Amino acid sequence: MSAKKLFIQTLGCAMNVRDSEHIIAELTQKEDYSLTEDIKEADLILINTCSVREKPVHKLFSEVGGFEKVKKKGAKIGVCGCTASHLGGEIFKRAPYVDFVLGARNISKITQAIKTPKFLGTDINFDESEFAFADFRNSLYKSFINISIGCDKHCTYCIVPHTRGDEVSIPFSIIFKEAQKAVERGAKEIFLLGQNVNNYGKRFSNTHEKMDFPDLLERLSEIENLERIRFTSPHPLHMDDKFLKVFANNEKVCKAMHMPLQSGSSEILKAMKRGYTKEWYLNRAFKLRELCPTASISTDIIVAFPGESEKDFEETMQVIEKIRFEQIFSFKYSKRPLTPAANMPQQVDEATASRRLTQLQTRHNEILDEIVAKHNGAEFDVLFEELRANSAVAGRTNNNFLVQIQGSEELLGQIKRVKITNAKRMVLYGEAV
Ligand code: SAH
Ligand code: SF4
Ligand code: F3S
Repeated sequence: MSAKKLFIQTLGCAMNVRDSEHIIAELTQKEDYSLTEDIKEADLILINTCSVREKPVHKLFSEVGGFEKVKKKGAKIGVCGCTASHLGGEIFKRAPYVDFVLGARNISKITQAIKTPKFLGTDINFDESEFAFADFRNSLYKSFINISIGCDKHCTYCIVPHTRGDEVSIPFSIIFKEAQKAVERGAKEIFLLGQNVNNYGKRFSNTHEKMDFPDLLERLSEIENLERIRFTSPHPLHMDDKFLKVFANNEKVCKAMHMPLQSGSSEILKAMKRGYTKEWYLNRAFKLRELCPTASISTDIIVAFPGESEKDFEETMQVIEKIRFEQIFSFKYSKRPLTPAANMPQQVDEATASRRLTQLQTRHNEILDEIVAKHNGAEFDVLFEELRANSAVAGRTNNNFLVQIQGSEELLGQIKRVKITNAKRMVLYGEAV
């Protein structure tokens, strides 16, 4: 029995989910902690934060305020992740009861942080790309594997390069071993993570075997009993023909591509410093549809970036008509500290931003209803990974549609053929065939 209890709350993206797994691994295997879901019995309360938009940052202070009220006497509170990176010591000022602050990419210092009063670990150049983390996974069916840390792109709206530092690739030998281990434990799918995965191999912190992302996919696909490889996020700028061909032809690579558009206006893309034009983006997306007609394409879009005119927004809407994305994550532009866009003139007013977001989402829902309706009666191979209410299980098709059928635990981790009987926008309901 472990002496101490750890409660951890994770906000943000998949990279944060993986960072939390690393934190849990370090504390349960190198220190004497075990996990609890009851915050009141925790000896250590952690929040792993996201900074990408303003809202989650506000949430941080209300959350830690809540922790302070319910925690047991003597329990420690630590703030980790992206907001920890960019607010640093200011967190102690705004919330003096916080015991330590540990930025993203400093996660390996967690064992030191819990023992050092008011520990502040926020060096965004700290290199943990070769750190031997202890091993823990929330779920066998979601085997996240980091392939790079940081991001060099400095898109003008984005805080991530200030919270996760410059891009460094993780050596292939580490990635390969992690993938093998996950598969030996029974995982059929691995999920590769990085801010620009298809820029893999650009920079290692030591001398390593030269390798690019398509080669990485090919090499990982040689692992026996591994059936599916997913990844996020690739960058449209690095979608060269070699990458698209390996994506289309390698049978283990899942046919779901995330292509973050951000804007359909080349002028706005330039102001965002995305490095590609609307024409390049369309060219790559059409090439992908041609090479791989079964692939789904998802995207991220920001509306109301500073200077976005009605005409710029209409261009984004046109791209949506042309590509007919299977999934869109859309956001109103949010002003972030340390980013050039925050000081750009012509900030767009809130009412316009809301109207554009609604217009985009409404139209996309119509498109999605048409796409989804075609799935009625279709059959897919589904990898089940999650139990749902009312004796149901859910999983994903190769091209990343969520499917739900009646069933129980023994289906988890299995790939089964499913016929869709009731296709809805968010979930395709079906039955095993
Ligand atoms: N590296 C990934 C993005 C990670 S952040 C990529 O380039 O695709 C995830 C998404 O959050 C971004 O794609 C963008 O659409 C959104 N985002 C980032 N900064 C934002 C901001 N300041 N305001 C609104 N949305 C933002
Ligand atoms: Fe942010 Fe751009 Fe890097 Fe993505 S590529 S994390 S949007 S700076
Ligand atoms: Fe991820 Fe949020 Fe950081 S999206 S990279 S946790 S700012």
